[in-house]
Amino acid sequence: MSNERRKINSLEMIKITKRFPGVLANDQVTFDVKGGEIHALLGENGAGKSTLMRQLYGLYHPDAGEIRIDGQAVTIQSPTDAIARGIGMIHQHFMLVDELTVAENVALGMPSSRGPVLDLDRVEARIQALSQAYGLHVNPKAPVWTLAVGERQRVEIIKALYRGAALLILDEPTAVLTPQEADDLFVTLKQMKEDGHALIFISHKLREVVAISDRISVLRGGRLVDTVPNQGVTRAMLARMMVGRDVLLERAHKALETGVVRLALRGVSALNVTGQAALRNVTLEVHAGEILGVAGVSGNGQRELAEVIAGLRPLAGGSVELDGRNVSAWPPGKRTDAGLAYIPEERMHDGIVQEFSVAQNLVLQDYDHPPISRGLFLNFNAIAARGRELVSAFNIRTPSIDTPTRSLSGGNIQKLILARELSRNPKVLVAAQPTRGVDIGATEYIHQRLLEQRAQGAATLLISEDLDEILALADRIAVIYEGRIMDIVPRKQATAERLGLLMAGVAEKE
Ligand SMILES: Nc1ncnc2c1ncn2[C@@H]1O[C@H](COP(=O)(O)OP(=O)(O)OP(=O)(O)O)[C@@H](O)[C@H]1O
Ligand SMILES: [Mg+2]
Repeated sequence: MSNERRKINSLEMIKITKRFPGVLANDQVTFDVKGGEIHALLGENGAGKSTLMRQLYGLYHPDAGEIRIDGQAVTIQSPTDAIARGIGMIHQHFMLVDELTVAENVALGMPSSRGPVLDLDRVEARIQALSQAYGLHVNPKAPVWTLAVGERQRVEIIKALYRGAALLILDEPTAVLTPQEADDLFVTLKQMKEDGHALIFISHKLREVVAISDRISVLRGGRLVDTVPNQGVTRAMLARMMVGRDVLLERAHKALETGVVRLALRGVSALNVTGQAALRNVTLEVHAGEILGVAGVSGNGQRELAEVIAGLRPLAGGSVELDGRNVSAWPPGKRTDAGLAYIPEERMHDGIVQEFSVAQNLVLQDYDHPPISRGLFLNFNAIAARGRELVSAFNIRTPSIDTPTRSLSGGNIQKLILARELSRNPKVLVAAQPTRGVDIGATEYIHQRLLEQRAQGAATLLISEDLDEILALADRIAVIYEGRIMDIVPRKQATAERLGLLMAGVAEKE
């Protein structure tokens, strides 16, 4: 088997330039990483991080510049070529085959020592060894479709290590992980670093970057701003380098008078995709002028909670009320018309039409309402005007409003969906993980928007795994565990410790 580990002492990218139609994605970027080092790559959405890394992995080819491995200039033709040179990449959207087992996925595309028949025993043994060495717990025999997101990511990492990766690129690996899973990943990364691997780590979470990296490089608008050692770096400094101005990392939260109940769930139960109970007798109310945070480890019913409110999942019991009306039997569109907005967690999948232009996606909910429609016709001027307005307000980085949405960077697609939903001035907003994958400038803006809408009387259900976000914005915090609301804690009494215990299912003693 050709999977013993190669060694990379240094990899250099020198004056790399890469253009797309209308975009200079990388402008003479110089970047390097060494064996035994974690080098973090930071930058706003669309700054050019993924583009730079895709050139290392052979997915794109530089228009100019040079890549050197251990001092030798190389041309990386394709991912196969990258893998042969010891470079692995963990993409944000995983590329595993659902129907196959972990071992089959890992062995896929690898020449087997015994000819065409997969040598699964040997593969499994090697997976066990890698899994032990780096704390990557997975069952080699499990079919991939049964795995949670965090486990799938571990399979991707094992797959890269199995193929002998000496350098591993991780493009926003923690965006999809629970805080606990992220901690586990960091243990793995530190172990890999000790073993001499070179690691490139992309994240929008400055706390993580400061905690784990040896050096930090910041891109802005396709250019390298600077590369700095971790020592002495603060989050505020990094934020300023990324955005080019000071960023508010904390937000002022003023107590407000709350109004009528706009959203109510009464004894709601629902099943998940596999037919098991996902929500059990959930009762909660959200008032006008209030943000109710929902804290919990993902997979405890948050998705189903959002979906029953949006009308995307049937109730197994109880009722949902909008502005005092029982809407339990209403289809999603009718709820939208009644003033409900929904920011789904799986935005790439549920939130947009990839082939549509930016402007078209921005009016997706309004195509049958004036001013976007005029009778049977669409009003193209109104669509373009709305598109330009939202692109500028939400700072969506795109060459034009006619660009196909699929060619935007990941974070800019997220911003597009947020812009569309928040700009409708909803009466009731359900926001699931609203700042996942967006940069700190956009996070600041989205938080401000949520607080503005609260001040204007919107009732917001904020589902987030980010306790910092919940504590910054919520008036009250409901903690969900195994489909039940464990408790609803007023803002003043909410501490990370208290919420953490409830999130683990530990009820409070009297
Ligand atoms: N295949 C492509 N075709 C056209 N434009 C592209 C393509 N890939 C990237 N771009 C553009 O290049 C720029 C840089 O995108 P890139 O994906 O590298 O950003 P990023 O820093 O990874 O952002 P994010 O944090 O949002 O993931 C963006 O303006 C993006 O729209
Ligand atoms: Mg990216």
